[in-house]
Amino acid sequence: MTNPLRIALLPGDGIGKEVVAVGKALLETLRSRRGLPLELTTLDLGADRFLRDGATFPEADQRFVRDECDAVLLGAIGDPRVPSLDYARDILFGLRFGLDLYCNVRPVVCLADSLMPLAGKRAEHCNMVVFRENTEGIYVNVGGNFKKGTPDEVAINEDVNTRKGVERVIRAAFGFAKQHGRKRVHMSDKSNAMSYAHGLWQRTFKEIAVEFPEIEAKHVYVDALCLQMVRAPESYDVIVTNNLFGDIVTDLGAALQGGLGMASSANVRPDDARWTNVRSRCRGMFEPVHGSAPDIAGKDLANPLATVLTVGMMLTHLGFEGEEAKLTQLVKDAVAAGMTTRDLGGDKKTSEVGRWIIERA
Ligand code: NAD
Ligand code: IPM
Ligand code: MN
Repeated sequence: MTNPLRIALLPGDGIGKEVVAVGKALLETLRSRRGLPLELTTLDLGADRFLRDGATFPEADQRFVRDECDAVLLGAIGDPRVPSLDYARDILFGLRFGLDLYCNVRPVVCLADSLMPLAGKRAEHCNMVVFRENTEGIYVNVGGNFKKGTPDEVAINEDVNTRKGVERVIRAAFGFAKQHGRKRVHMSDKSNAMSYAHGLWQRTFKEIAVEFPEIEAKHVYVDALCLQMVRAPESYDVIVTNNLFGDIVTDLGAALQGGLGMASSANVRPDDARWTNVRSRCRGMFEPVHGSAPDIAGKDLANPLATVLTVGMMLTHLGFEGEEAKLTQLVKDAVAAGMTTRDLGGDKKTSEVGRWIIERA
């Protein structure tokens, strides 16, 4: 028998717990029904743990994930009881930065005409994949305060962009486009205002594009991208951008998919010694794009479909061909059958939608 793949479940906070419960039940079902060799372990990390013993992402858990797990399925981190959110950054960035998961792959794909919010557009008009740089940019939290709390306060967050960091995610976006028969890669920046950092993105993008002559390489300023994603989402195929812009445009993208409850993501690191020094058994962290949604947490109202799609991305990454396509079809079937939560206009509970999917998986 093949060695099982170990998945660390990290429900986290708020609706993260509810949607990962669905993800867990789904994985258990796939294991028993179809023999997927999976071993599931739940990590006790998040606000409850922090409030209990002050731990955020202890060394022992970091080592366990890195060396003894193959992937992490995360729900969401963020709890109004802990306003500073330092613990959330420790966990989220501990995984993304710590494992050097430099590609945050976020499909912005609308799965049903009924979910498309734009007049005159159908689902087929929204089918893009955003490659968000995931390990640097303004997220590195380099900076500080001076004269804090006084009227003369200075507050600085530096935007850190390295040649290697920019090049590797741009290469990954082109590589993905080539592998999946996608025709166009747009790089989105704000080089008209941020000439140093985004000048590096411009130069690097042009250099790499030459190596992929079969793929159309285009540039779009991020403000114009936001406009055009709403006016003509069919203009986009693959988009590569920095950490902050990728965060923002994928929430906008989620609105085109039917809402945050439909947006999935993978934090991954194409393993190549040229681009990363990190060696880990863990190959990725997979999470819905949404947060912990304190406004609906604990009420069985959260849409679990983003997590179902995220489980699909994880299974593809772990080498289980075909599972993602089946799960994506099941999500489309659920939407068509009206088996949806309130955010999609339905009246079903998280647990009901979860059970419906699991019965058919
Ligand atoms: P959010 O994504 O949690 O919620 C935004 C809105 O979308 C809310 O109205 C919420 O009810 C709705 N929503 C989100 N997911 C939904 C789902 N699955 N089903 C139905 N409705 C859904 O964003 P926020 O309110 O800005 O953030 C709340 C907390 O989550 C904050 O602490 C934030 O930092 C954190 N957060 C964490 C992650 C993560 O862990 N990856 C991602 C985003 C936000
Ligand atoms: C996301 C979230 C996080 C991010 C927050 C919680 C730091 O918005 O995963 O999209 O900005 O990356
Ligand atoms: Mn976000």
